[in-house]
Amino acid sequence: MKKLHWIPNSAAALLLATSSIFSVASFAASEPTERIDSRNDAYEQNHPDQYESWKATSESEHIEDALAEDPNMVILWAGYGFAKDYNKARGHFYAVDDVRQTLRTGAPKDANSGPMPMACWSCKSPDVGRVIDERGEDGYFEGKWARLGEEIANPIGCADCHDTRSEGFKKGEPALALAKPYVERAFEAIDKPFEKQSRLDQQASVCGQCHVEYYFTGPNKSVKFPWDRGTTVGEMEEYYDAINFKDWTHKVSKAPMLKAQHPGYETWRDGIHGKNKVACVDCHMPKVTKEDGTVYTDHKVGNPFDRFEDTCANCHTQSKDQLREIVSSRKAQVLNMKLTAEKQIVAAHFEAGAAWDAGATEAEMKPILQDIRHAQWRWDYAIASHGVHMHAPEVALEVLGTAVDRAADARTKLVRLLAKKGITEPVEIPDISTKLKAQQALGMDMDTMNSEKQDFLKTVVPEWEKAAEKREATYD
Ligand code: HEC
Ligand code: HEC
Ligand code: HEC
Ligand code: HEC
Repeated sequence: MKKLHWIPNSAAALLLATSSIFSVASFAASEPTERIDSRNDAYEQNHPDQYESWKATSESEHIEDALAEDPNMVILWAGYGFAKDYNKARGHFYAVDDVRQTLRTGAPKDANSGPMPMACWSCKSPDVGRVIDERGEDGYFEGKWARLGEEIANPIGCADCHDTRSEGFKKGEPALALAKPYVERAFEAIDKPFEKQSRLDQQASVCGQCHVEYYFTGPNKSVKFPWDRGTTVGEMEEYYDAINFKDWTHKVSKAPMLKAQHPGYETWRDGIHGKNKVACVDCHMPKVTKEDGTVYTDHKVGNPFDRFEDTCANCHTQSKDQLREIVSSRKAQVLNMKLTAEKQIVAAHFEAGAAWDAGATEAEMKPILQDIRHAQWRWDYAIASHGVHMHAPEVALEVLGTAVDRAADARTKLVRLLAKKGITEPVEIPDISTKLKAQQALGMDMDTMNSEKQDFLKTVVPEWEKAAEKREATYD
């Protein structure tokens, strides 16, 4: 095993800068007629260091069940896919496996059965950019998730972040690029067109293709970022309210709900590092110098503390223990506020359910349901962006505070409404102390869902894989 010497990003950037022209120039030079090669191993020979380190994201293989850890979330997402199954993020290498395996994508038997739209592949694979390039956006988005199951085969990789067809990339320059037109439009909406961004901004924007808030819209359920009014929690909330958008209707409270995805880019922007232009890459993809003096970017996107000397220590003089301590105490603070907000929102859902049962009218419920919608959107925005306790703890805490406030508004109104309907006893909350109990309280048939999923993985997925192999065999 060769010993690696790591050097600061800025110094490495200089080294690279002396020998190359950057992405903008390379982007323009791309050959539109050539197929986008979405196979990651197609780049192994030309860029072995980047390939090997990219492949090492497979070392982060552990799956953590977020619902088992916090069964409140089953109730918060009642009536929506996330109540079935929700795992924490692991290595990029597993993105395609994980979207096939999650109960949320169901067990489609054929190209036209649901439950999810094609859009669900969008942040999992460089094949998405390839298919859009070949068939246009509608040609990708239309229909159900299973329609192009055999086309989406390779996990997040080279062609997701690079213009792999450019001469620059072939020579070893970064040639950073966005893989999807809807992402380009989103950056234009916030006056940051990608080709006009600085190199540092681009280094964050490539991650922002996927680690963001988005929703599905239009007849084809295509992806859009809700950024037209800005990227803060309040601006996106206004946007969704103005277009009357909801992801689903809550099963217990009937509130028109929003599901935050993972607004990591948006929260990072508002945090201390984002404000100082410390990009995702500074911490998650440091530069490395090999024994022969050549420099490359380490593509093993993972936890920056695993290589502290090459990340935090480039800019900070504190010890690893000191900084770890700060980050873990912030994690505990955010977790505590998260649970505080959940307690209030869960109660509000059940109280609203009781109010409906007691004969409340649509008109009486409307302002209450709006408060619940806003409370939960804020809770979700704050915690769904993984790593927020590191990226922007003050944003998370502030937003969670407003979630508690909106839930309190809902509950104050609910107490009055329930009293009006003759209910003065506290509304009882069922036993939701484990994931399974919470799912049972909602009447979810987990056994059937699990066995259908197993069947799908045994019968449909191998067919997809066979077809993908056959198609890719024609590439060379
Ligand atoms: C998640 C985004 C992402 C993925 C996936 C990705 N890269 Fe990169 N790559 C980057 C970033 C960011 C840089 C550094 C850009 C800079 O220095 O401005 C980079 C730099 C590079 C460079 C320039 C030399 C260097 O090491 O800095 C090459 C070559 C490269 N990547 C090849 C690859 C290959 C091959 C793959 C697939 C095996 C890949 N990349 C996958 C984001 C990515
Ligand atoms: C094409 C979409 C996409 C891009 C681009 C992307 N990510 Fe991800 N990222 C994901 C998905 C999806 C997961 C979860 C994968 C899973 O759990 O199967 C993930 C997981 C992660 C994780 C967790 C890794 C672990 O081992 O726990 C980190 C950290 C991360 N991404 C950071 C980044 C950074 C930094 C960039 C930019 C350099 C980036 N991502 C670019 C989609 C993307
Ligand atoms: C200043 C350094 C820094 C910057 C900048 C940064 N991150 Fe992180 N990120 C971290 C650290 C450290 C962690 C792990 C926190 C912990 O151990 O609790 C983390 C965690 C994450 C996670 C969660 C991983 C998991 O398995 O839960 C994701 C995803 C992520 N970052 C993506 C990003 C993206 C995307 C950006 C840019 C928009 C970014 N990060 C910018 C330091 C950084
Ligand atoms: C490229 C430089 C750079 C890197 C890499 C970097 N930081 Fe920072 N960090 C900064 C800057 C700049 C500030 C703002 C300092 C200020 O305003 O006083 C900051 C501030 C902080 C703060 C104080 C913020 C607050 O909320 O009070 C903490 C804690 C911190 N960084 C932790 C980390 C950790 C942990 C890592 C590695 C995962 C890391 N940083 C990586 C540049 C960096």
